[in-house]
Amino acid sequence: MTLKNKLGITNQLELSKAEEKISKQKAKKLFESGDIDKIKVGTFAGLKQIHKYLFGEIYDFAGKMREVNISKGTFRFAPVMYLKQSLKHIDKMPQSTFDEIVEKYVEMNVAHPFREGNGRATRIWLDLILKTKIKKVVDWDKVDKADYLSAMERSTAKDVEIKQLLKNALTGKTKNREIFMKGIDISYYYEGYNEFKTEDL
Ligand SMILES: Nc1ncnc2c1ncn2[C@@H]1O[C@H](COP(=O)(O)OP(=O)(O)OP(=O)(O)O)[C@@H](O)[C@H]1O
Ligand SMILES: [Mg+2]
Repeated sequence: MTLKNKLGITNQLELSKAEEKISKQKAKKLFESGDIDKIKVGTFAGLKQIHKYLFGEIYDFAGKMREVNISKGTFRFAPVMYLKQSLKHIDKMPQSTFDEIVEKYVEMNVAHPFREGNGRATRIWLDLILKTKIKKVVDWDKVDKADYLSAMERSTAKDVEIKQLLKNALTGKTKNREIFMKGIDISYYYEGYNEFKTEDL
């Protein structure tokens, strides 16, 4: 079923393309305008800002906590009944070291607070914490899609694999435009979107 959207699109393929194009334009703007530096770091409020920024023109639910239960494969993300409580807890999780930051990211993934667009918004959120707290970001070009998805699937039980994978991909080039733009393209590629290059939009 095609998600209800502000564009009035009812065809899934068409919606995917429009969503990719518009939200990538927004991601680019987030970086170029410097708005990214106005996002609250390491909280659900900050993640909401990012989600709203990317998807606000497409979905009414942008930046809003979901009201339905969702799952992927055999994993059921946080039940709506406990979501608010869980997000309050995540806000308070420490974020001083690489390990703490990834642990927080893993918990936010388990929360999956939005109806759609969790993966893409939360990776920007993760990089913002890493950048602010340890002066590094992930060079997503160094993170293989299959390895990443399998490590994330595993992360709900054990976080060693995702820690290792991301640690090996860290870079100190936190303000580098190419790393950011490429990172967006790769993040979208993980979720099956690869029609447009962010830099060309
Ligand atoms: N089986 C799984 N268990 C836990 N986490 C997973 C699993 N599969 C994927 N993930 C994580 O969830 C992210 C997004 O997955 P999902 O497609 O469910 O969310 P989404 O809201 O549709 O996000 P997006 O629209 O950005 O793809 C993945 O990038 C990965 O980090
Ligand atoms: Mg999705």
